[in-house]
Amino acid sequence: KLKSMEAIFEAKIANDEKIEPKDWMPEKYRKTHIRQISQHAHSEIVGMLPEGNWITRAPSLRRKVALLAKVQDEAGHGLYLYSACETLGISREEMYDQLHSGKAKYSSIFNYPTLTWADMGAIGWLVDGAAIINQVPLCNTSFGPYARAMVRVCKEESFHQRQGYEIMMTLCNGTQEQKDMAQDALNRWWWPSLMMFGPTDDESTHTEQSMKWKLKRKTNDELRQQFIDQTVPQADILGLTVPDLDLRFNNDTGHYDFGKIDWDEFWQVVKGHGRCNKERISARKNAWDNGKWVRDAAVAYAEKQSDKEEV
Ligand code: 3HC
Repeated sequence: KLKSMEAIFEAKIANDEKIEPKDWMPEKYRKTHIRQISQHAHSEIVGMLPEGNWITRAPSLRRKVALLAKVQDEAGHGLYLYSACETLGISREEMYDQLHSGKAKYSSIFNYPTLTWADMGAIGWLVDGAAIINQVPLCNTSFGPYARAMVRVCKEESFHQRQGYEIMMTLCNGTQEQKDMAQDALNRWWWPSLMMFGPTDDESTHTEQSMKWKLKRKTNDELRQQFIDQTVPQADILGLTVPDLDLRFNNDTGHYDFGKIDWDEFWQVVKGHGRCNKERISARKNAWDNGKWVRDAAVAYAEKQSDKEEV
């Protein structure tokens, strides 16, 4: 019987059909989706913190409103993804516990500090730009709830990327001091943005299997290259210099060759020793503990409503 269930599952994957929560799936397929989707959700929620830092200090009301909308979108993306993950049989509390205990990861990029307003431009342009490149293929991922969540997320990410690029454009068309701020932000966010795509394919634990299951539709290196090829010309338009002396367009391949990524830095950050890891996790733990009364009130209210309906 198991053989036929496996055969049905494999046939669905081969035919690009969606695997739905109630379908039979290999335990390892379930586990790796819980791993990736929950960590993706954690990334969205933790990703609100670096930007939240600048909402009260935005230089204009228009900038404040756009940043507020972006941070609010990220909260929604996180809740969307936690819901998609719950369909695989893990509870919301369990996922939060994994984040707070350090058992679960979230994107390395959010462990870097946001030092100036230009960082809001660099994050929107580079981090959300990288996130779009990574998430568009996920709209065709084999697990139904994940693919459907990504369609909505990608639409909102393109607004995030545009508002970031507009901030960079404004600064680069401004005073020398503003241009220097934009260049400083590019210098600090360029390499960590490349690391967002994960280890090289030959170092990646999951890529081969994730490609077989059509969880991933493109590999880490393919997406990283696509990001570089798309972003370098945008830096040229801004009049900014990408901080990589080995960067050069390769006419034979049609892609940019680029310098060595500091994988020691990457693993240090992933292991919890980045600039802001402790600060980010304690901010999340405080929000969880201080928000207990809100959750209790919401549950009490919901129970009262259902009592009323029963009467
Ligand atoms: N940060 C932290 N950990 C990372 C990482 C990163 N940038 N890249 C890889 N890792 C971890 C992996 O999670 C894995 O550890 P695990 O087994 O404990 O989960 C290990 O390093 C080996 O890496 P792999 O490449 O083998 O792992 P994956 O196949 O999971 O690939 C990934 C990593 C490309 C990030 C993939 O998980 C993925 O595409 N996730 C969905 C997208 C996502 O999470 N994006 C976060 C970007 S931020 C964001 O979207 C918010 C937006 O609003 C800006």
